[in-house]
Amino acid sequence: MKDRYAVAGHPVEHSRSPFIHARFAESTGQPVAYGRLPCPPGAFAATVRGFAASVEAGFGPARGCNVTVPFKFEAPALAGRLTPRAALAGAANTLRFDTDGWQADNTDGAGLVRDITVHAGVALQGARLLVVGAGGAAAGVLGPLLEAGPQALVLANRSVDKARTLVQRHTALAVRQGVELRAAPLERTGTAFDIVVNATAASLSGAPVPVAGQVLRPGALALDMMYGAAARPFLTWAGEHGAHGRDGLGMLVEQAAESFAFWRGVRPPTTEVLAELQRAVAQESA
Ligand code: ATR
Repeated sequence: MKDRYAVAGHPVEHSRSPFIHARFAESTGQPVAYGRLPCPPGAFAATVRGFAASVEAGFGPARGCNVTVPFKFEAPALAGRLTPRAALAGAANTLRFDTDGWQADNTDGAGLVRDITVHAGVALQGARLLVVGAGGAAAGVLGPLLEAGPQALVLANRSVDKARTLVQRHTALAVRQGVELRAAPLERTGTAFDIVVNATAASLSGAPVPVAGQVLRPGALALDMMYGAAARPFLTWAGEHGAHGRDGLGMLVEQAAESFAFWRGVRPPTTEVLAELQRAVAQESA
């Protein structure tokens, strides 16, 4: 019988996670069924606990879930134990319902690092890195980016205080890793970065890319954590300034693979799934 998993969030109707995990289950032969768990605002904890306790005819128990917007900051409170990277982020995207207590993890940063280094083939070690945004998306990735050993990481945000708070949380790690880490307002980031990651929600409100084109060195990697129409303004901007634009689909697939491994102890192959998703999203937005 298949163990049950789901993606918990609001909304989750358009989530690609069920497709991705169905492919992972096929390729690894793991008995996994993965669905959607819509959580009404204010009812995240109750909905997830209900899922964990639920019984479904013909299926095994619920073993875990992914957590997406807007509940990633609420997820750690449901777990008795946090992985170090979830504790550092203060946010979790993965819960595992272990019988001796729940465990929370955050696989977003590892997913981003793998997408940049493996799929995009760009080295993080020694690179100058700009992360724009200081919300939940940025919080989840800062630790793993620092651990990948860039030379410098600038965290820029419209509300610079939020960037400062996030930088403070990560200062000890940056010092250990020998990474120059600082917070900056959007108009004083510095220029000519090797890698620029957009972790803002600016495009969702139709706002322009919130940093100047000079942040990109020629040939830089410019990665938006979003995909489809939401990523288009950033990718167009990247192309106009001589950078290689990349959307968030690779990160999405890789964070899912990391969650799957956390649950099942088996790492699924990702290249084919990513190619399928890229084709599907390109067709939908054509
Ligand atoms: P998420 O969990 O997806 O990161 P969030 O916590 O609401 O969502 O954060 C959204 C991020 O996008 C924030 O960094 C936000 O900047 P502020 O902290 O100053 O609000 C950023 N953002 C949203 N709209 C923006 C805009 N028009 N220009 C610049 N930054 C914007």
